[in-house]
Amino acid sequence: MTPPIYWAMLVGMAIMLMGQGLPVKTQGNSQSDKNIMDNITVRQGETVFLRCTQGEIVTHTAWLNRSSILYAGDEKWSVDPRVSLVTLNQEEFTIKIENVEMTDEGQYVCAVQTSRRPTTNIVYVHVQVPPKIINLSRDIVVNEGANVTILCQANGKPEPSVSWKLISSSGDLTTNDEYLEISSITRQRAGAYECTAVNDIDTDTQTVDITVNYAPTVSEGRDIGVALGQRGVLECEADAVPEADFEWYKGDRRFTNGFEGMEIVNTGSLSKLTFFNMSDGDYGNYTCVAVNKLGSSNTTFLLYVQDGNGFTLGVHLNIYLLFIVFLPFLLKF
Ligand SMILES: *[C@@H]1O[C@H](CO)[C@@H](O)[C@H](O)[C@H]1NC(C)=O
Ligand SMILES: *[C@@H]1O[C@H](CO)[C@@H](O)[C@H](O)[C@H]1NC(C)=O
Ligand SMILES: *[C@@H]1O[C@H](CO)[C@@H](O)[C@H](O)[C@H]1NC(C)=O
Ligand SMILES: *[C@@H]1O[C@H](CO)[C@@H](O)[C@H](O)[C@H]1NC(C)=O
Ligand SMILES: *[C@@H]1O[C@H](CO)[C@@H](O)[C@H](O)[C@H]1NC(C)=O
Ligand SMILES: *[C@@H]1O[C@H](CO)[C@@H](O)[C@H](O)[C@H]1NC(C)=O
Ligand SMILES: *[C@@H]1O[C@H](CO)[C@@H](O)[C@H](O)[C@H]1NC(C)=O
Repeated sequence: MTPPIYWAMLVGMAIMLMGQGLPVKTQGNSQSDKNIMDNITVRQGETVFLRCTQGEIVTHTAWLNRSSILYAGDEKWSVDPRVSLVTLNQEEFTIKIENVEMTDEGQYVCAVQTSRRPTTNIVYVHVQVPPKIINLSRDIVVNEGANVTILCQANGKPEPSVSWKLISSSGDLTTNDEYLEISSITRQRAGAYECTAVNDIDTDTQTVDITVNYAPTVSEGRDIGVALGQRGVLECEADAVPEADFEWYKGDRRFTNGFEGMEIVNTGSLSKLTFFNMSDGDYGNYTCVAVNKLGSSNTTFLLYVQDGNGFTLGVHLNIYLLFIVFLPFLLKF
């Protein structure tokens, strides 16, 4: 059995030496040697081995975490189940810490009492932690012109650097900050914003979607000619967020599905008004109105009678013109 007095001396000595700070190597002290071993870098979750070479007749030996004893010889003092003994013989005294945590970072001391003199070996354990985004703004929906700020906070060791990028664009909008501020946002700046947290060990990325609402704009209506008895189709396209609802009018009269001989089909940004069999009363000016909660926009088309042969007046004109142009050549023969 170990007389407790030796332990008290050993621990006392170790604490005293640690108090002197790093990385001074004690000189001219014939009573003890203090060795500073290489620092150990380990990733969070991995296992670190703390190895102490002895090589002389050892009477007592201990591994300490700061000022508390983890192992005194083969006797475990630490209550931490992650700490265990690997090797203890005349040459070597090794313990391991499994599933290393950030709080394990710090100075560890192997205190050895040989027959001649006490030795202290100091090792500094650095714990590396991959970056992790811990605080991220939720996806947001704003109206065009609003000021927007999104946040991305990450932790890790070494401290990760955080940056933002709009991934749906060519990347002109970027920032190397936790906060991304967009003043008076435009529809072009809507999209998926990617936050990247990087350190020497790894990268973590997350995205935030910004939806920008704006009032509809309908594209200019194109007049269309349809022959009597044929199928007539009017198309109206609107750019809007959220998607527009469409309304069709002829003068004051609103057209809705359920009217005889016609149909309205809306697919996303496009609305199609179809007459299955054009009759005289179907011709005229039609107005398409696109509406969302931010506003409305409209355009008017003229649905006119086209020549029953399927040729427009224009086509006939072209044929006459061609004839006139080529007439002199024809007359030569
Ligand atoms: C070991 O780690 C300590 C504490 O971070 C530091 O002061 C010292 O410079 C490191 N030594 C080496 C050799 O990296
Ligand atoms: C080392 O000491 C620190 C501070 O007391 C503690 O948080 C950590 O869990 C200890 N690690 C081991 C492996 O004993
Ligand atoms: C996330 O950021 C917000 C805004 O700065 C802050 O109020 C909140 O406390 C943060 N949450 C965490 C878990 O850090
Ligand atoms: C956006 O911020 C600017 C100044 O930063 C301010 O003048 C403006 O009123 C803000 N707009 C909105 C919609 O809050
Ligand atoms: C279109 O309507 C006219 C007049 O009502 C009718 O004579 C004709 O058969 C119809 N054509 C088709 C394809 O339904
Ligand atoms: C359609 O509208 C145009 C422009 O307002 C007008 O000149 C034309 O007479 C209208 N046509 C019919 C058939 O209502
Ligand atoms: C179409 O838009 C004009 C202005 O651009 C507006 O004065 C008119 O009332 C609108 N018509 C309909 C049917 O919404």
